[in-house]
Amino acid sequence: MLEELVVRLREARDLSDAELLQLIDEDQDISFLAQQADLVRREHYGIDVYVRGLVEFSNICKNDCLYCGIRRSNASVGRYHLTEQQILECCRLGYALNYRTFVLQSGESAYYSDQQICSIVSSIKEEFPDCAVTLSLGEKPEQSYRDYFRAGADRYLLRHETADSAHYAMLHPSGMSLGNRKRCLFQLKEIGFQVGSGFMVGTPYQTSRHLLADLRFLQQLQPDMIGIGTFLHHKDTPFKSFPDGSLQLTLKMISILRLMFPYALIPATTALGTVSPFGREMGLKAGANVLMPNLSPLEVRSQYLLYDNKICTAESGSACANCLHNRVKNAGYQIVMDRGDVRK
Ligand code: SAM
Ligand code: FES
Repeated sequence: MLEELVVRLREARDLSDAELLQLIDEDQDISFLAQQADLVRREHYGIDVYVRGLVEFSNICKNDCLYCGIRRSNASVGRYHLTEQQILECCRLGYALNYRTFVLQSGESAYYSDQQICSIVSSIKEEFPDCAVTLSLGEKPEQSYRDYFRAGADRYLLRHETADSAHYAMLHPSGMSLGNRKRCLFQLKEIGFQVGSGFMVGTPYQTSRHLLADLRFLQQLQPDMIGIGTFLHHKDTPFKSFPDGSLQLTLKMISILRLMFPYALIPATTALGTVSPFGREMGLKAGANVLMPNLSPLEVRSQYLLYDNKICTAESGSACANCLHNRVKNAGYQIVMDRGDVRK
């Protein structure tokens, strides 16, 4: 019965609400689902895995998302910001490791002016014209996004986190709204960015209906990249006593996403690698095709802890590169060193 649903999902890239809920809810063996997702990924991307060098350039954040370890109210985090030169150094290290996409991620803050962000982006593009620059800086005014795009940024990552507004309000303080986040996503798309969105699996109060709403929202947005990660608690947040999300459900959602969005770039996230030592390999086998090794300077890695026990906080950029090469090879895929643009 469920196998029939999976085949139909693969063929039609869609199912009814009731059928999707059944797939999400039922506690079944996910090997057939993963196998079908892998088939679709191979049709579109072969065994290629793309690599994005991640620079977590600041943990300063004005937001207070209840799940996040670097939220404003967490006074036990030492705050840092990298200079333009430090960020460029990270990219140089990444370029030497043959990475051709750099993701600049930070908390949401006005610490860097738009002018500074644009200057960082254009310096990277000038020095590495064959590389893509992805920004992940949170919600900004439309004009700021336009300026970043004009400065040369190619892609923008902004997870919607949950597409149900009541659930959104349980995860965020009252000043934040799902409506604004969605507005940002559609603006980014309209400006011409390759856009990434996504959600966490297993956040407090999440139900399968919320996950269904996430899938439906992504169908509306049609993003190029879809990042989902397991929710993991952080000891200094209001959600410290909530259980972590499930690896199995995260893998299941990756496979469903691959079947619904065959062309999408889907990362096997650090959160997945944190839930289980082989979580990222399982993610690749379930349909993911992107990895995001950390290029941030070692001195600041332990200050960008979104959740407890985050992996890769003590390994240098080149140690991470080596580790990932071996992991990808052992899982039966190959790392490809190019920009890895979406194949639509
Ligand atoms: N400030 C930017 C933004 O809001 O999009 C980028 C940084 S934010 C820390 C990056 C992502 O981390 C969020 O979109 C969220 O999904 C994820 N994240 C935060 N806390 C997490 C947690 N406790 N468990 C899993 N993922 C988490
Ligand atoms: Fe960083 Fe393995 S990916 S140590």
